[in-house]
Amino acid sequence: MTSTWTEPSNTATALLLLGRGSDPASERGVDCPGDLPTPSDPDLVARATAAKAALGDRVFVLGHHYQRDEVIQFADVTGDSFKLAQQAAARPEAEFIVFCGVHFMAESADILTKPEQQVILPDLAAGCSMADMAVLGQVQTAWEHFEDLGIAGDIVPVTYMNSSADIKGFVGREKGVVCTSSNAKRALDWAFEHGSKVFFLPDQHLGRNTAVLEMGFDLDDCVLYDPHKPQGGLTDEQLRDARMILWRGHCSVHGRFTLDSVNDVRERVPGVNVLVHPECRHEVVQAADYVGSTEYIIKALDAAPAGSAWAVGTELNLVRRMALAHPDKQIMFLDKAVCYCSTMNRIDLPHLVWTLEELVAGRVPNVITVDPETADNARVALDQMLALP
Ligand code: 13P
Ligand code: SF4
Repeated sequence: MTSTWTEPSNTATALLLLGRGSDPASERGVDCPGDLPTPSDPDLVARATAAKAALGDRVFVLGHHYQRDEVIQFADVTGDSFKLAQQAAARPEAEFIVFCGVHFMAESADILTKPEQQVILPDLAAGCSMADMAVLGQVQTAWEHFEDLGIAGDIVPVTYMNSSADIKGFVGREKGVVCTSSNAKRALDWAFEHGSKVFFLPDQHLGRNTAVLEMGFDLDDCVLYDPHKPQGGLTDEQLRDARMILWRGHCSVHGRFTLDSVNDVRERVPGVNVLVHPECRHEVVQAADYVGSTEYIIKALDAAPAGSAWAVGTELNLVRRMALAHPDKQIMFLDKAVCYCSTMNRIDLPHLVWTLEELVAGRVPNVITVDPETADNARVALDQMLALP
């Protein structure tokens, strides 16, 4: 008997098989077009170098810290999502911004750059599963419910950078702010100066960790809004009492670190410092010694004394690069299992070579464009973030 394979349902979190099918409404983007060089081509480095030199100042290449080494070597600037947003905004002279990161970052760059600049994502399948967990229709339904309850006027929406332009547009329209993992506390401080409650999208962990561990809130001040349940799975009373309404989203990469990973490394490596990203679960962040964005993690490891031991809970490309850069320090991955962000890894050297060579040939591939109305609204929330004290 033969069975027929069918595409998983087209929900926000459905897994698209890599290279098969498309979901233009989601952060996973669409099919990857074009004739890619083969990964085994021995000339890839030379080809990327030549194409980048031919383009000169016309191109500016941004690389997120989770990118592969083979890609990061060609980045003009590397950074966390906050620094990359700033850098994109500060390059009005570059005709092309090649964004080696994921789709929501390229969208933010498009919103923050001049209309004549083009932002390019070398592989359109480089989305983000966390960003996919908040879809505009769901968020609007939640907000209408808050309006019916008469609490919307008290709520300031805050969205993590890891969200689609649609969600940022909603937040801008409702007079909220975008945040990243390096300024979440400042964004929440600002939000609580403008309202008595925060609706935090889409990463429950960043919201909870910041509110409880940095701002002195109780866990009981936070409720979890599940978009797949009627009224978020919450009673009217729970919503009225909550200070933080957390969207039920998470990062599948950071979600792999557990309390066991922390306990295990402490047992194996006496004196180890545990350093994690705030997208990790609450109990992991609580058990860690240090917590911060990718930029913070790099600075902490750079400043660490020789001979010190560090177990790092974030994406593996970054941890491995830091371990290689500091052979005098013992830098290890927090979990025993390998843990890459598969969508960040979609951007590889063949895609970068293809992108740069297309540009040299006068064709502009994979342009990320946000529609003007969404962009205008999202820009309000992004500019508010860039203006945070
Ligand atoms: P930062 O670069 O803001 O630390 O975020 C990490 C991340 O998950 C990006 O997708
Ligand atoms: Fe998204 Fe997590 Fe990958 Fe960052 S690490 S791009 S939050 S899936």
